[in-house]
Amino acid sequence: MSGVTIDQSEDHAVELDQLPDPASRRSEFLIPPAVGGEFPLTAYLAGNSLGLQPRATRGELMADLDAWEEYGVHGHSDADRPWFPYHEALRGPAARLVGAQPREVVMMNSLTVNLHLLLASFYRPTAIRHRIVIEDKAFSSDSYAVRSHVALRGHDPETAVLRLRSRPGEDVLRTEDVVQTLRDHAHSIATVMIGGVNYLTGEVMDMPAITEAGHDIGATVGWDLAHAAGNIPLHLHEWDVDFAAWCTYKYLNSGPGAVAGAFVHSRHLDNPGIPRLEGWWSTDPSSRFEMRPVSEPQRSADAWSLSNPPIFAMGPVRTSLEMFDEVGMDALRERSLRLSGYLRGLLETLAGRTDIRLVTPGEDERHGAQLSVRVNTDVSALTERLSSNWGVVVDDRQPDIIRLAPAPLYCTYHDCWRAADALGQEISGEGIA
Ligand SMILES: Cc1ncc(COP(=O)(O)O)c(C=O)c1O
Repeated sequence: MSGVTIDQSEDHAVELDQLPDPASRRSEFLIPPAVGGEFPLTAYLAGNSLGLQPRATRGELMADLDAWEEYGVHGHSDADRPWFPYHEALRGPAARLVGAQPREVVMMNSLTVNLHLLLASFYRPTAIRHRIVIEDKAFSSDSYAVRSHVALRGHDPETAVLRLRSRPGEDVLRTEDVVQTLRDHAHSIATVMIGGVNYLTGEVMDMPAITEAGHDIGATVGWDLAHAAGNIPLHLHEWDVDFAAWCTYKYLNSGPGAVAGAFVHSRHLDNPGIPRLEGWWSTDPSSRFEMRPVSEPQRSADAWSLSNPPIFAMGPVRTSLEMFDEVGMDALRERSLRLSGYLRGLLETLAGRTDIRLVTPGEDERHGAQLSVRVNTDVSALTERLSSNWGVVVDDRQPDIIRLAPAPLYCTYHDCWRAADALGQEISGEGIA
């Protein structure tokens, strides 16, 4: 949807915020105070980078700390939420969030670590079929991860990593071009690993179509869902995705560096021959303390976990996933489309009279909460002024992109209005209305 708004006044934004919406949980979050501007709280549109803290997190975390105080080592079995099976509480909500069967997901490690563990299993190069496909605008960590994997297996990253480029003059990738590239290099591609929502442009990739195209040429297909999980509805099992990983500190509000997620399709779970890196948390928990020399993994994504999980880092993920479970991704996505459509309308008005340009596609199925805007000024200085002069928090990516993401759980129409108004003021000296 291109966000056409009739009334762009501040009053209208306030009115829109007064309409009841069960997907808005703003009162359940701690909104940072503004350092500048006329409003006490920030208009926080940086949830694509680091989500805000749910009010419930502190109490839940304290309860886990209290259990440590009270039970010591016996907390593994006797705590109200025993630590030994703690990750089980996260499995159901995480699976519903990404459209998976419960046994297909596990919450563990961090995102890049999970990508490595999954590549260890799903990138199985041969002399001819050894390439990994990523997008040219991949997040740097993904690029480093795949380059290091191909090098580890004896291939040259310069030729073995195939980068998908948009057409000259275009900002985003076209599905047909991605599919064509896969067909053009069909025999040399071992694995496709792309961001489900691009971190820079905010474009949503056609995950089912690209997964199918990858399988058609005999490749394995994995998705980095850092910017997709908690942002757009996902159906990983149905889309037949081989593997996926995501972080939980962005839309999933689980705190800086929070524990990440991993998905392995059930097709692979039933394959006892699949290679993987293992640790004692890979083996069946019922015999884990028998300390056998050879692991006996269960047929679940847990087989990819290595270590006993960091309980105090798992708690905030559990708290947040429960909230997503309560609200549901469909209701959240509906609100997200309304908010981002509204923001787009305001930004298009600005784009009509300044030289800013929207980079994120306008069609509903091609974007999530984030709208990326190309600006013709020093982006770091701009984001700094938006915060210090207006209390508007967005983030930037060099050389010329600012990213504005109204996360639907806690952002309001008025936040969107403030962001667009402040941007207009900073760029042209003229606000929205
Ligand atoms: C798309 C994407 N991939 C990978 C990462 C790296 O995440 P981590 O530091 O949690 O491994 C990020 C971090 O923001 C990201 O946005």
